[in-house]
Amino acid sequence: MDTFKISQIHFLRKFIEIKDEYNQLVKKRQEAIMKHHLVYYGHEKLRQKADPVTEFDSDLVSLSEAMFKIMKKYNGIGLAAPQIALSKKFVTIDLTSYDKEKLVIVNPEIVWRSEKKGPYDEGCLSIPGIFETVDRPLEVVVNAYNLDGEQIEIKADDILARVLQHEIDHLNGIMFVDHLEEYIRKEYTKELKKIKKMNKQALF
Ligand code: NI
Repeated sequence: MDTFKISQIHFLRKFIEIKDEYNQLVKKRQEAIMKHHLVYYGHEKLRQKADPVTEFDSDLVSLSEAMFKIMKKYNGIGLAAPQIALSKKFVTIDLTSYDKEKLVIVNPEIVWRSEKKGPYDEGCLSIPGIFETVDRPLEVVVNAYNLDGEQIEIKADDILARVLQHEIDHLNGIMFVDHLEEYIRKEYTKELKKIKKMNKQALF
């Protein structure tokens, strides 16, 4: 066998190895996406305080990809890990429909809130079909980490400030309907009961 052929074989082997590695990665990511699904109002994980993320590894990257896929599927602009029954301080935000950015936010902490509050119609992938006006501070500053484990500071106003507060609430077991006046929440009793049942349906 001449050297040309040997190097060709080496090249092919290397190519197959890389392809295998790639296929495994794709499979792992598909599995990560398949195993995660939304949970709904009434699910116990939505009422727990989430645990801080400690490992900034490839699993976390896969998780972020799975969460972005879920948001895309349901037209969501923000998703917190407890919404897929994971008690982790992990949030994905996709504001590309507002000509803004995609963000992955780990272990976020709101360190400043503006005194000025304002109303905004909120909805939640875990409470489908219900939209109500919630008053919240118009600006916030959030300290967090990115996927690489680097510290980040986010100064947010407008829609980003809104989504951040909504999602960080999820990490503390709080849902947007908790902010509504009792008499408004009562108007949704029937709907909320129906939504609770979706947790059982989701198992099949
Ligand atoms: Ni939500």
